[in-house]
Amino acid sequence: MNIRHFLDITDLSARDLGSVMNLAQVEISSLGRPLSDKGVALIFEKPSNRTRHSMEMAVVQLGGHPIFTRGEEVGFDQRETVEDVTRIMAGYHHVIAARVFEHSILQRMAAVSSVPIINMLSDHSHPLQALADLLTMRQELGELRNKTVAWIGDYNNVARSLVEACALDGMHIRLGCPDGYGANEIELSRIANLGAASVNQFSSAQTASTGAHAVHTDVFVSMGQEAETAKRMIDFKDFCVDSEVMANTAKDAIFMHCLPAHRGVEVTSEVIDGAQSRVVTQAHNRMHAARGLLAHLMGVTR
Ligand code: CP
Ligand code: NVA
Repeated sequence: MNIRHFLDITDLSARDLGSVMNLAQVEISSLGRPLSDKGVALIFEKPSNRTRHSMEMAVVQLGGHPIFTRGEEVGFDQRETVEDVTRIMAGYHHVIAARVFEHSILQRMAAVSSVPIINMLSDHSHPLQALADLLTMRQELGELRNKTVAWIGDYNNVARSLVEACALDGMHIRLGCPDGYGANEIELSRIANLGAASVNQFSSAQTASTGAHAVHTDVFVSMGQEAETAKRMIDFKDFCVDSEVMANTAKDAIFMHCLPAHRGVEVTSEVIDGAQSRVVTQAHNRMHAARGLLAHLMGVTR
């Protein structure tokens, strides 16, 4: 089926990504309520604040009706198969979005769905977050081509989507990850081939942040990894974004975090609550970015 799904940033071309960014920033009234009288299913296997609220409000702003469903209510492969859930919901809704533990569930949904499937976070990626991150950096830093982004910490779902988006915008990418938690060589080449100005990985947070215009981090223990907490707290102990990490950055660099954050673990209070932090703007941009994506999937162009 030739349906536009959004499981990863790479489901968008660089041109599509630019269109989504434009759609995210135009007056809502100019988008023409493309979801009028249409439903959007939002299925969550994990907790959420930003993703649920931003998606629900984006659907409302486009004239649609969001229906929130907890993962245990649909019971993927427990109550019924992923494929049956998807085919049935596709008859009620014009978009189905899901936050899942296993990315393969989204791929199975996309394989049988007659409407777009949106990834609202999986173990593999978090592309809706990356749209808001890119939007925020474009607004704060202007043209991103040849600017530098640093990711400090775990090369996780949020990191993968962020660097894909940054690569499509032609940025220099610097990863600072503990040994065993970074991107492998194949992944580094894949990101470079998406159009990044350069991709480099370091095992020091201070080195990775050198010259960065934006420094990003995320939790060291993602949802579903709770059993690894004690080990991760040791392995990541030198990767807290503090004033020393920020001291190496470019002038007027900004700090970003997808949230929720743990002050004193992956970032100090001084940094996340300081003048360089843009985390609140970034979180608010989740709604604008989601609206831009939904409009794009409904065929609105800019
Ligand atoms: N950043 C993000 O996805 O937040 P939630 O888990 O609260 O949705
Ligand atoms: N990496 C985190 C992001 C939460 C928004 C997680 O998967 O839990």
